[in-house]
Amino acid sequence: MKVLVVGSGGREHAIAWALAKSPDVTEVICVPGNGGTAAEKKCRTIDPKEYISTEHMSFNDAVSVIATEERCDFVVVGPEDPLAQGLADVLWKAGIPVVGPKSQGAILEASKDFSKEFMQKYGVACGYSKSFTSTAEALSYLHEKGAPIVIKADGLAAGKGVVVAATVKEAEEAIINFMDKKTLGTAGTKILLEEYLQGVEISVLAAVSVTPQHPEKATIVPFVTARDHKRLLDGAKGPNTGGMGAVAPVSDVTADMMEAFQKDILVPTLKGLIAEKMDYRGFIFFGLMLTSTGPKLLEYNVRLGDPETQAVLPLMDFDFSKLCRAIIDEELQNFTCTWKPGFVCAPVAVSGGYPGEYHKGYTISLPLQTRETEKIFIAGAQLDRRNEQLPLITSGGRVLATAAYGETFQEAWEKAYKLMEKVHFESMFYRKDIGLPGAAESGQL
Ligand code: AMP
Ligand code: GLY
Repeated sequence: MKVLVVGSGGREHAIAWALAKSPDVTEVICVPGNGGTAAEKKCRTIDPKEYISTEHMSFNDAVSVIATEERCDFVVVGPEDPLAQGLADVLWKAGIPVVGPKSQGAILEASKDFSKEFMQKYGVACGYSKSFTSTAEALSYLHEKGAPIVIKADGLAAGKGVVVAATVKEAEEAIINFMDKKTLGTAGTKILLEEYLQGVEISVLAAVSVTPQHPEKATIVPFVTARDHKRLLDGAKGPNTGGMGAVAPVSDVTADMMEAFQKDILVPTLKGLIAEKMDYRGFIFFGLMLTSTGPKLLEYNVRLGDPETQAVLPLMDFDFSKLCRAIIDEELQNFTCTWKPGFVCAPVAVSGGYPGEYHKGYTISLPLQTRETEKIFIAGAQLDRRNEQLPLITSGGRVLATAAYGETFQEAWEKAYKLMEKVHFESMFYRKDIGLPGAAESGQL
């Protein structure tokens, strides 16, 4: 079986690695991939630019051409942008099965307003919120409600669309920046003002198979819990980033919380996907706040999380390609995801300066061989362009993650950081406390 993975980050390296482990998979084509996927066994990267022959051709068209020419059996889409732009629609139309929702489902991430309406319509546990297209009305609602309050831009904003405001002044600034100054372009034309929720955050990634043709087969299978660490510095301090490391599973989640998640979030979500007649075959990411009154949904993402995937997939005790087939073939209700009993810790190394301006082009020295229980997932690094050979050269803010498995969390943590100590590049920086007490975002202002 030949498969194609769309995307270029650490998540996509982990997906490609997981697919390549399957005895059924002969080749994984990564579009555009990165230096990690280029060096991975059974994987090959293809630059989509070489396939964009006319100015009318989009990235999505190029993926469709590559998947057709290479006779791929199915495509797995990593990031949300191509999904929001209809990549799954294009591929299904061309007769190529896809793991990733069509654009109708991708709106659950692409529009926070739509997503919130969906949650409210189907009774998904979430914070109260109201949406606005007028600055004056938003400000007047803010003055009525006061702070703390959360301001969310409706559209996709690459992680910059949410401001948790401790004071009314901060909230006013965010509203004016998003709506009047258009700091996020059109993504901030509409905003939501949301109730501030206090608690600790976790991520639940899940496989989804829902089609309008067979509602009786509709299924969501949650994976083990995971936790991202979004702040740059130890102790959950400093600016927000794309994610500085993840752990899985999360040990401080009670069985009661997970039961409440199933009943108050997962089941109503499934009912909603069926009722909206969505063709949603892919992954969904529930961003949860565990509050004193139970888990509340902060957001849906229509994809796997990054870097959560790098911590979750090494715990798989099943064949990832078979899971993908079950999603596509509407057989998910008969598929059991079994997980290894231990833990994975996956800290992320970034380039100095990130999430602000950072340098690129530094040579990375890292161990080429790792143990079976360890894996370096590459995000922002490429092979040397002159000869397409190692060493890897940094090309992004988040450069790589060192994921390690342990029977206990302590063991996983120690192995992950020992591996990190063997990695070097100029200006390298990483958090030292991924998964430790006090490291998680706690919803504190
Ligand atoms: P979102 O993109 O909606 O997940 O928001 C990004 C981050 O903002 C979340 O991971 C939380 O840390 C924070 N956040 C979002 N909504 C709320 C809320 N209602 N209360 C407190 N923090 C929030
Ligand atoms: N780790 C958060 C995300 O993937 O959006």
